[in-house]
Amino acid sequence: MIYFRDQEITHADQEAFSARFGPFAEDAYTQGVPGHLHVQPLIKEASQTLGVVFGAGWHTDSPFLAEPPAISMLYGVEIPPYGGDTIWANSALAYATLSDAMKAILAPLKVHMSMGRVVETAQAHQAPDDTPLGRVASTKGLAKLPDEIARKVAGSFHPLVRTHPVTGEKALYCDQTYACGIEGLTPAEAEPLLGFLVSHITQSAFTCRLRWAPKTYVAWDNRICVHQAFNDYDGFRRELYRTTIAGEAPA
Ligand code: SIN
Repeated sequence: MIYFRDQEITHADQEAFSARFGPFAEDAYTQGVPGHLHVQPLIKEASQTLGVVFGAGWHTDSPFLAEPPAISMLYGVEIPPYGGDTIWANSALAYATLSDAMKAILAPLKVHMSMGRVVETAQAHQAPDDTPLGRVASTKGLAKLPDEIARKVAGSFHPLVRTHPVTGEKALYCDQTYACGIEGLTPAEAEPLLGFLVSHITQSAFTCRLRWAPKTYVAWDNRICVHQAFNDYDGFRRELYRTTIAGEAPA
């Protein structure tokens, strides 16, 4: 991730800057602001108490898609006086520090990425509303998930070790939120391995944590890191805007 302080930008500026990195990605949760369909609001009002905040849990963005977004960008407008930080972990460094024996075990494996856990958590802990997770929570009680959400719960199988298409760097493609199985392994076999990989990637030596300020602009490469938001600022407003750049099928 890389960040810049004190950027005075409009939605149009963010859209234009983001577009320099490639076409916009499909966004799995949010809708754009009027007039800027690719600039997605991430707003938690001071009056909102959410059971679970959008982005909670270590994750890479929308890996359940066949072609997950390569790059995500966030611009901070209103920031709580405390809390609301974002933390990232370097999954390429995590891969590089594995033993050769573990690298050989992981090399042929495919991870199952699904929105299933997010749907379960949102339905259990979030009231239906117009927030990204509130929209997912509104599926609670339906006899059948809408096709759009069912497609994301069915998800995608991707290489557990992916190679960055530009730099050739290898990284672990695994997270706490969406990685739910490994092709060909039983759940009892896959769960401990995925659990180990998530703990390995997210150990503090591989992380950095951003204290937001208004006008901070952040960009990160979802192919080589995971990130997490915190639900620790009830009573204060947090307003950020996100853009995502299309990626390729992980290979
Ligand atoms: C996200 O996961 O994209 C949101 C991060 C945040 O709100 O800090």
